[in-house]
Amino acid sequence: MPVRAVLPVALLLLALPRPPVRACPASCRCLDDADRVHCEAKSLTRVPHSIPFNTRRLFLESNKIAEVTSGDFVGLGSLTQLYFTANHITRIAYGAFSTLSRLTYLDVKHNRMSAIRSGMFVGLTSLKRLILSSNTIRNIDDGAFNDLTSIENLDLSYNAMSVVNSGMFVGLHNLKNLDMSFNNISIVRSNTFRHLVNLSFLNLNNNRLTNIKPKTFVGLEVLDNLRLEQNRIVKITNGAFRPLEKLSTLSLRSNRLKTVTSGMLDGLENLNQLELFINRISRVEDGAFGHLVNLRILWLDWNKMSEVSPLTFSGLTKLDSLTLNNNNLSRIRAGVFDALPSLTKVRLTSNPWNCNCGLVELWNWMKDTNITYKTPRCASPPALKDVPIANVSLAEFDCVPTEAPDVTTLPTDWHGGNSTSSAPGGLAALGAGRWGLVGLVVVWAGTFIPSL
Ligand SMILES: *[C@@H]1O[C@H](CO)[C@@H](O)[C@H](O)[C@H]1NC(C)=O
Ligand SMILES: *[C@@H]1O[C@H](CO)[C@@H](O)[C@H](O)[C@H]1NC(C)=O
Ligand SMILES: *[C@@H]1O[C@H](CO)[C@@H](O)[C@H](O)[C@H]1NC(C)=O
Ligand SMILES: *[C@@H]1O[C@H](CO)[C@@H](O)[C@H](O)[C@H]1NC(C)=O
Ligand SMILES: *[C@@H]1O[C@H](CO)[C@@H](O)[C@H](O)[C@H]1NC(C)=O
Ligand SMILES: *[C@@H]1O[C@H](CO)[C@@H](O)[C@H](O)[C@H]1NC(C)=O
Repeated sequence: MPVRAVLPVALLLLALPRPPVRACPASCRCLDDADRVHCEAKSLTRVPHSIPFNTRRLFLESNKIAEVTSGDFVGLGSLTQLYFTANHITRIAYGAFSTLSRLTYLDVKHNRMSAIRSGMFVGLTSLKRLILSSNTIRNIDDGAFNDLTSIENLDLSYNAMSVVNSGMFVGLHNLKNLDMSFNNISIVRSNTFRHLVNLSFLNLNNNRLTNIKPKTFVGLEVLDNLRLEQNRIVKITNGAFRPLEKLSTLSLRSNRLKTVTSGMLDGLENLNQLELFINRISRVEDGAFGHLVNLRILWLDWNKMSEVSPLTFSGLTKLDSLTLNNNNLSRIRAGVFDALPSLTKVRLTSNPWNCNCGLVELWNWMKDTNITYKTPRCASPPALKDVPIANVSLAEFDCVPTEAPDVTTLPTDWHGGNSTSSAPGGLAALGAGRWGLVGLVVVWAGTFIPSL
């Protein structure tokens, strides 16, 4: 349009009377010159007409609104926060919020939405937080959130989604927190999160995932915290976590993992905390934690581990805390802890510790180090049942050298209880050795029994 034609139109618009000041709707309270309008719990079945035009925060919680229609917010371009919690909303009309270009906060939790259609959120270009939790959302159209170019927090928890499609989060470059916990998700398509380059927190707790496939987490370059608790995960493909270069916390608690494979945790060089408790882990492959050079806390309690070797934890040079309680450990070599130079806390309680000669190494290590542990107790032999390991006397361990020493299987520089020795050569030698009584008796007979 030529400038000459625009000018008279603009003047005409200026000359029109401003919209009349609206009185506060009968069922609401308008505070601070209608900056805040409260219409909670008034059995409203629709958004009241005549909300004052300058309203910035509108509270509509606990009503019976079933539908948001396209005329509901005409003229309310000043709104920044809109609260619909606990209504009966099943439908939001296409473009219903299109006038709300300043809205930053929209809360639709505890409603009855079953689908999110594209166009529902058109116009919400300033929206930073959208809360859709506790609905019955099963389907979300590809691109349904496309218009939310500023969104940082998206809460989809407590819904009924079973598949997360790869078109769901296209374009959400600013998203920081995504919560999809407490759904029924069994499938996350490859590359679903590839646009979420700013995502720092991803919550997938309490779903039905069984496998973590290789391309699931592609694109999540700055993800800091990944929650996968309370799923049914049995398998994680090697390298699946590799895109997560910045991840510092990973929770896999309460799943069905049986083995921690070497390669499963590849790429997690920044990981600080790893939660693997309450799984069915009976085996940790040698070197499985080898890349986790920044790991400080490792939770392995409530699993089924019967054995750990010095190679189990090799590479964890910064590990400060380790939980191994409530496993099936009856013995452990002190060399296991020698591989962990930064260790200050370890939990060993509720294991079936067998306080025979095979436990002297642990007993000796417990006396020698400043590492704190919560009083692990013997489970057997019957005479020592429930006695704290630390209270058992050396004689009670019943170490009688019965076999001739086989010196060739022993690292020459190794001393039981020296928690600072972690030379790779020594570890390899220890790892290669067997648990057999022969080897252990040799160590005690040859090294520390005489020195006690
Ligand atoms: C990520 O977020 C920051 C601000 O938190 C922003 O400056 C940056 O542009 C975002 N990255 C992308 C790719 O949008
Ligand atoms: C959850 O998904 C499973 C299939 O994975 C289906 O059988 C079940 O009915 C779903 N449950 C709900 C509550 O939607
Ligand atoms: C616990 O370990 C013992 C060997 O120390 C083994 O015989 C037993 O099968 C294990 N139990 C479970 C439940 O893994
Ligand atoms: C244990 O702690 C004490 C006091 O904090 C300290 O003097 C000692 O050197 C420590 N011993 C070891 C083996 O770290
Ligand atoms: C273990 O030893 C500690 C201190 O030496 C003592 O206080 C405690 O009563 C003992 N516990 C048992 C069950 O013998
Ligand atoms: C423990 O190991 C370190 C390093 O290998 C060594 O310097 C030190 O002498 C050893 N201490 C004992 C008591 O054997």
